[in-house]
Amino acid sequence: MDARRRRILHALGITPWVRRHRPSRQAAIGDAVAQSGASTQGSSQRALLNRDPVQPRPAAQAGATPPAAAGESAPSPELLTPPPGEAESTDDITRLDWDELARRVAQCHACDLAETRTQTVFGVGARDADAMIVGEAPGADEDRQGEPFVGRAGKLLDAMLAAIDLSRQKNCYIANILKCRPPNNRDPRPEEVAACFPYLARQIELVAPRAILAVGRIAAQNLLQVTTPIGKLRGRIHRYGPSDIPVVVTYHPAYLLRSPLEKRKAWEDLKLYRRLLQEG
Ligand code: URA
Repeated sequence: MDARRRRILHALGITPWVRRHRPSRQAAIGDAVAQSGASTQGSSQRALLNRDPVQPRPAAQAGATPPAAAGESAPSPELLTPPPGEAESTDDITRLDWDELARRVAQCHACDLAETRTQTVFGVGARDADAMIVGEAPGADEDRQGEPFVGRAGKLLDAMLAAIDLSRQKNCYIANILKCRPPNNRDPRPEEVAACFPYLARQIELVAPRAILAVGRIAAQNLLQVTTPIGKLRGRIHRYGPSDIPVVVTYHPAYLLRSPLEKRKAWEDLKLYRRLLQEG
């Protein structure tokens, strides 16, 4: 199996299979059997790649494996034995500390965005903050500087946060759904989110924020595992993960730059978020 194919499988949460014991009849059949095994996995992989991006997905927690598409059965566990020395999986991400997690992200090649990024963008801010902000993905400025929200939208985000007494230097942590920039700022693809989400899930676990502010549709829909439009998500309190962390959704600052009249609604969201932080 070539490296690119292995990367795609990793991105989909599928551990490459190897034949452990070839029954003698299969030995006689030889490569024909190996071929049929490969095509079984190939169809499963294609089904995952073709997953409708607008369907709700089951919770993508740290270490979670993307589900098979409807009607597609999961590959047999016997076929999923990692080859020796290739046991890289998302499972152990749930146990990494900050330094190991940052190193793992910096070296990540779990999806094709690794080929086009300048660098990964891990996260920034106080790692023990009560407040955690989740955005979509790095843009050109973030890709260049290695820090989330440093472009024009980032300046507006900083101003929004300052209005509720939050700053990345002091008391909030900021991270994105994706750690690598999608080329031309296109929307993240489902397989990219599936590959990258365990890193964010672990960051959330480590920060253990009192409440999360999701900025923009992509952040909100992926955190909450819904396809509801952002206009219907904002203005109320959602929950994330096994510890039911409260989540408030607001508009992305890049959208607010284009639609300044919506800033009034964003201010309502920020006040709701501040109230949650204060209530504990
Ligand atoms: N937009 C985001 O969602 N995140 C960034 O880091 C920058 C722009």
